[in-house]
Amino acid sequence: MWSRTLAGLLSLASITIAQTPSGFTPQVSQKLGITYGNNDISPPGELIPRPEVARPPTISSSVFSTTGKAVLFTIDLDVPSNGSRVTLLHWMSPDITGVTDGKNSTELTIPNPPVGTPYLQPAPPVGDFPHRYVFLLFEQPRNFSIPPEFANINPPTDVSARIGFNLAKFVAASGLSTPIAANYITVQNTTGTATTTFPPAQYSTTVTGSSTTVTVSGGASGTSASASASASSTSNVAASGSGGSGVALALAAAWMLHQI
Ligand SMILES: *[C@@H]1O[C@H](CO)[C@@H](O)[C@H](O)[C@H]1NC(C)=O
Ligand SMILES: *[C@@H]1O[C@H](CO)[C@@H](O)[C@H](O)[C@H]1NC(C)=O
Ligand SMILES: *[C@@H]1O[C@H](CO)[C@@H](O)[C@H](O)[C@H]1NC(C)=O
Ligand SMILES: *[C@@H]1O[C@H](CO)[C@@H](O)[C@H](O)[C@H]1NC(C)=O
Repeated sequence: MWSRTLAGLLSLASITIAQTPSGFTPQVSQKLGITYGNNDISPPGELIPRPEVARPPTISSSVFSTTGKAVLFTIDLDVPSNGSRVTLLHWMSPDITGVTDGKNSTELTIPNPPVGTPYLQPAPPVGDFPHRYVFLLFEQPRNFSIPPEFANINPPTDVSARIGFNLAKFVAASGLSTPIAANYITVQNTTGTATTTFPPAQYSTTVTGSSTTVTVSGGASGTSASASASASSTSNVAASGSGGSGVALALAAAWMLHQI
């Protein structure tokens, strides 16, 4: 009895907390469990040291899927590219199973060997503010397949194919609905000093990890991003390979970035 009441209260509480970054559309209230090593990501947006995200996390959920399968996306929302910020697809796995219960949180099974777009470790450039990596789980329709226009990420031939990933277009082309669960992490590389000027943040937030708190400010006014972390070396791994036109990349990312 008591536990049932508590569970009810907890589930009420959980629907009031957005699991997606502030300003991100679509907003998702159902939590996707993300566990890196022993660290169960909470609250959403937790700042994680980069070495801890070298291997893909395990994911868990109590969400219900009528088909019993799900598709996962992990997307960096803050990749500097040609003076603005674009997306980068870090992970896309269809055929995830274990999404059958609707009540109990179960660890989901991700195909191994990987299918779709293999996990790529978050690698924000040295000196940039913490990037946001959003995890989105969608129910997988029975007739799901990777749309032909996304063959270049199935799997990607190189990192540049992952840049400017347009989730809205993928969702429309593959018949996905709205995400059934989500979560996000933030990752920053504080081991060096930026050698370039980064484009402004498209959001304002304070993120907290086990030992650091970082405030990011930005927004429509174009306020510069600032990160309070220390720094002392030089390299810059700004996701490069922006082979295509910056305009096309910006348009591709517009659905996500214009909301922020
Ligand atoms: C949830 O897990 C409990 C304990 O394993 C089990 O008794 C119960 O049937 C499960 N509920 C559902 C809806 O599967
Ligand atoms: C999947 O099936 C639905 C109808 O059940 C249809 O509307 C949709 O276009 C199909 N999607 C694909 C990608 O074939
Ligand atoms: C930070 O970036 C530098 C340059 O790419 C890289 O060598 C280093 O491993 C990164 N540090 C961390 C902690 O990820
Ligand atoms: C970057 O933006 C400039 C000015 O809009 C444009 O001329 C240039 O082609 C872009 N470069 C890339 C790599 O997209």
